[in-house]
Amino acid sequence: MSSMLTGAPWLLAHKSMLRTNQPAKVSLYGTVYVKWHDEYGAVHALPNACPHMGAMHSEGWCAQSNGGSNVVCPFHALQFDSEGCTVLPGSDKKSLPQLPPLELIVQGDFVWSYGGHAPKIPIPQILNEFSEQYEFIGFTGDRSVKTDLLTMLLNMHDYDHQNGTHRALFEIQEVQFKQFADHGHHSHAYYDMPRTKPQLRDIINNPAVLALPKIISAHLENFFPALVIFHGESPIATIKQCHLFIPESETHTRTYVLMFGQAHSPIAHLLKQNFLKLAEVVVDQDADILGKMYSDTSQKIKLINEVGMDWVRRNFSSFPSVVEPNLSK
Ligand code: FES
Ligand SMILES: [Fe+2]
Repeated sequence: MSSMLTGAPWLLAHKSMLRTNQPAKVSLYGTVYVKWHDEYGAVHALPNACPHMGAMHSEGWCAQSNGGSNVVCPFHALQFDSEGCTVLPGSDKKSLPQLPPLELIVQGDFVWSYGGHAPKIPIPQILNEFSEQYEFIGFTGDRSVKTDLLTMLLNMHDYDHQNGTHRALFEIQEVQFKQFADHGHHSHAYYDMPRTKPQLRDIINNPAVLALPKIISAHLENFFPALVIFHGESPIATIKQCHLFIPESETHTRTYVLMFGQAHSPIAHLLKQNFLKLAEVVVDQDADILGKMYSDTSQKIKLINEVGMDWVRRNFSSFPSVVEPNLSK
């Protein structure tokens, strides 16, 4: 079993997260890369350590080159093009490639990568459909969490943790599980969460709680392993809250949220930032609890709504194949 599921596709960024000609760090499978995005929309990634003396390219800047841009090392200002060739100082000659570029697959606004490994499962297409059908509201909660990929995924597919981790935010009374549909690496979970009435102070803290119904009917759609979508439906708006996961290393897993939606009432437009804020608080609460666990504890108690976690464990241990999709209930 590979603890970082090599052969799976990971969504490194939505293009709105990239600033043109601004190098930024991105980690995958234990390697740190610098990625940059030129004014023509091309995205590139190279190992972040400079082959001269190891400075971080992500701390440097970008320079124009014919038809695109190079990344410039902040230490001695050597330039590297998207193929990883050094542009030799004082000439426009190039060295042979010294840095192997990270292979990126760009589909519209989405920048995916298999981390240079042979693809074993396909890229889910649902985000491309969302970008055609819905308004892109934004991204939020981009965090590197000190936890391994499996622990992160278990948390995201744990339908009982609303009662503890997110209790204060949503005032959930209980989780009423309805259905789990297992289609191998794709699944759906449906459950209701009746809430106590929000206090005035909660409303003042975040008016988006007013857009939450008295019973939150959760529909989660899961694409193992990189994506969980919360389909939110209320009289005010339809929200597609997409949670992404990236194995940065054995010990760190990145997560962030992309949000798409459709307003059913003018109020929804005013609440956009609040919807993003709500999702950010959710990510922070998850990151917080993941940092407060003894992850080597063997589980001796099982709750009734752990089917999502069973799904994660099964897919994890049989990756990339699915032994038998038998968890529907
Ligand atoms: S360390 Fe990068 S140019 Fe010297
Ligand atoms: Fe959570």
